Amino acid sequence: MNEPLKNDLLIRACQQQPIPRTPVWIMRQAGRYLPQYREVRSKADFLTMCKTPELVTEVTLQPVDIIGVDAAIIFSDILVIPEAMGMKLEFHEGRGPVFEEPLRTEDDFDKLAPGDIHEKLAYVFEALKLVRKELAGRVPLIGFAGAPWTLAAYMVEGQGSKNFTQIKTLMYASPKLLKKLLDQLSGAVSDFMVAQIEAGAQVVQLFDSWAGILTPEYFRMFSLPYIHKVVRRVKEQGMPIIVFARDANHSVEDIAEIGPDVVSVSWREDLAEIKDRVKGKVALQGNLDPCALFAPKERIRGEVMRVLEKAGHGSGHIFNLGHGILPQTPVDNAKAMVEFVKNESPKFHVS
Ligand code: CP3
Repeated sequence: MNEPLKNDLLIRACQQQPIPRTPVWIMRQAGRYLPQYREVRSKADFLTMCKTPELVTEVTLQPVDIIGVDAAIIFSDILVIPEAMGMKLEFHEGRGPVFEEPLRTEDDFDKLAPGDIHEKLAYVFEALKLVRKELAGRVPLIGFAGAPWTLAAYMVEGQGSKNFTQIKTLMYASPKLLKKLLDQLSGAVSDFMVAQIEAGAQVVQLFDSWAGILTPEYFRMFSLPYIHKVVRRVKEQGMPIIVFARDANHSVEDIAEIGPDVVSVSWREDLAEIKDRVKGKVALQGNLDPCALFAPKERIRGEVMRVLEKAGHGSGHIFNLGHGILPQTPVDNAKAMVEFVKNESPKFHVS
């Protein structure tokens, strides 16, 4: 039996309900900036870690215990879905995850397995159950997946890329083939999100990290409709969903329109301006520059205040960075940021 939540600030902020202070968590909070993470990682490679529920549980809980964040996010990766569809995933130290055989021909696309998410990604669901048990209701647990566009880009490029020429060539030359892949991915991502919720995720976040490489028009054609499909499926479950379409603020009204609970805002945007544009349809998450955590503590306080002021009074803001925390970040500074949010944010909420 899972215990009721002792700290449900994140859930209430997603629903824009009144709360005494702003909840805070950090994208990539389980990661290399923590010596305790590096210790676990020194004994297992990244993919083995992702597939071992006990190790996932250990590193997922680390930032809750060490940094004091208001949510846990399951330790995993967005690339587990393409792997479940039959693509061979390798992790190269210093280079990150790589598909040695990226999708290049129609044949490659045809060979993709539909991917029985329940069976192939059982290790994720097992880890979610174990983390929920260990959390014992301390804070909510966030599940996540990559958005279809970002996954497709990774599957076609094979790795991160500067200009994304392969996926863009496909988009311009064979849009039908790309749309077929995006359709298949939105089914798999939706099934994965629903199964994560069934396994214990209390909020889910969709990462469209590479939304920003598309023109506004093509974002609305090749990314947004597929995010919409996933959001619709998650909302049928009645669970909160956060959409992080990085650097796609040109379309923030359209993103708000498809019905997520929260839109996560990158550090490049003005939070107050985004707030104005979404007109209360969604809560907002973000958006401190990850590099602000390299500043002296008093300066970090000032930057935290600036974000809180931009978010304004009332509920509907989740404090976070505008992208993942960087590996070089001093742990003490991450802790200080969380403390500043906890101490300074009550004045932005009616008591
Ligand atoms: O937020 C969390 O703490 C949960 C864990 C999480 C990871 N990856 C763990 C990870 C999440 C939410 C992700 C998402 C992810 N993975 C994205 C989207 C988010 C974003 O930052 O835009 C992307 C594009 C990936 C793919 C990926 N995984 C890349 C490009 C890399 C290499 C770059 C890097 O940051 O190291 C990874 C590896 C990865 N994923 C690490 C972690 C902790 C580092 C692994 C290690 O060396 O120990």
